[in-house]
Amino acid sequence: MKKYIVAIVGATGLVGREFIKVLEQRNFPMASVHLFASDRSAGKKLFVGHREVEVKETSHSSFNHIDIALFSAGSETSRYFSPIAAQKGTVVIDNSAAFRMEPKVPLVVPEVNPQDIKEHQGIIANPNCSTIQMVVALYPLHKVNPIKRIVVTTYQSVSGTGAAAMEELTTQTKLVLEGQSVVPHVYPHQIAFNLLPEIDVFLDNGYTKEEWKMAEETQKIMHAPDIAISATCVRVPVFIGHSESINVEFTRPMTPEEARRILVYAPGVKVLDDPSVSLYPQPWSVAGSDDVFVGRIRADASRPNGLVMWVVADNLRKGAAVNAVQIAEEAIRRGWL
Ligand SMILES: NC(=O)c1ccc[n+]([C@@H]2O[C@H](COP(=O)([O-])OP(=O)(O)OC[C@H]3O[C@@H](n4cnc5c(N)ncnc54)[C@H](OP(=O)(O)O)[C@@H]3O)[C@@H](O)[C@H]2O)c1
Repeated sequence: MKKYIVAIVGATGLVGREFIKVLEQRNFPMASVHLFASDRSAGKKLFVGHREVEVKETSHSSFNHIDIALFSAGSETSRYFSPIAAQKGTVVIDNSAAFRMEPKVPLVVPEVNPQDIKEHQGIIANPNCSTIQMVVALYPLHKVNPIKRIVVTTYQSVSGTGAAAMEELTTQTKLVLEGQSVVPHVYPHQIAFNLLPEIDVFLDNGYTKEEWKMAEETQKIMHAPDIAISATCVRVPVFIGHSESINVEFTRPMTPEEARRILVYAPGVKVLDDPSVSLYPQPWSVAGSDDVFVGRIRADASRPNGLVMWVVADNLRKGAAVNAVQIAEEAIRRGWL
């Protein structure tokens, strides 16, 4: 089997470190791996398996002879370096929002639209973490009974913002418990013992960019521009794992039992749904897993063709690194690299 030369850009970050783990855990066919970050991390060493690999500053020459580059270093870095890498023949799988809505860039969740990978011209976009877990749970239902409308509220962990936000929650929690005052740095307000209904910047229409991304990306991935979507995204003081309360309206009625029967066999989905024993997905219990967990499936008492459900996934794994590596695996398997 052919082995590939892989680069990770943003290797020192939360997602970058998860990439290293995921590539090893999934036994990805790698000939070698090259780690890149900013000049701040140049010279640092990270373990890849039992071997230490030096982190280098990302530069034009980073992509000479690289087959696959996994980017997780923010939109600015992706916007600058991805086209350079693609021009050198590297296939870029980008975790940032830089190219997601560009018509010629496939935006892929392998359980939903793997066929879109074929259209890539060197860059494939990995969707937003909250979008990924929502479409993995909803697409199998949509195939049976087309979705007309989605209303979703997210409860997103601080790891979705990166390593600095994890540290901020730890520090603030200690300070609050010691009765000391807190000065926020990463978020506009205290995150410890608090909730912030603000993820990414506010747009003129009153939504945040994160909320708008969830709507646009879902329509693109599911090839369903007519689904009406309204999202409210909330940052919560949880370290890992995003949760979502989703109200979904179908074309025809769908019972909770039918939805459970479909989801039990859906790829990448695990149903955890038994209220009699308080069984439902929670962020702490799904952290470290690669599946999307669904529970609390019930009829929406406010809409005739509606269901309500609770969907939880590890944002660093299925919401970022796992989905991106699955895209690479799918591209290899189908001969589309
Ligand atoms: N966290 C999530 O759940 C999640 C999910 C989906 C997508 N993403 C996306 O993934 C990206 C990274 O997220 P993260 O959570 O891993 O953030 P993070 O922990 O803050 O790490 C950021 C990484 O980017 C690198 N970087 C920053 N500026 C750079 C530059 N100019 N050139 C090269 N590398 C640079 C950093 O390197 P240094 O260590 O040298 O500063 C670090 O490796 C973001 O685009 C984010 O939107 C994150």
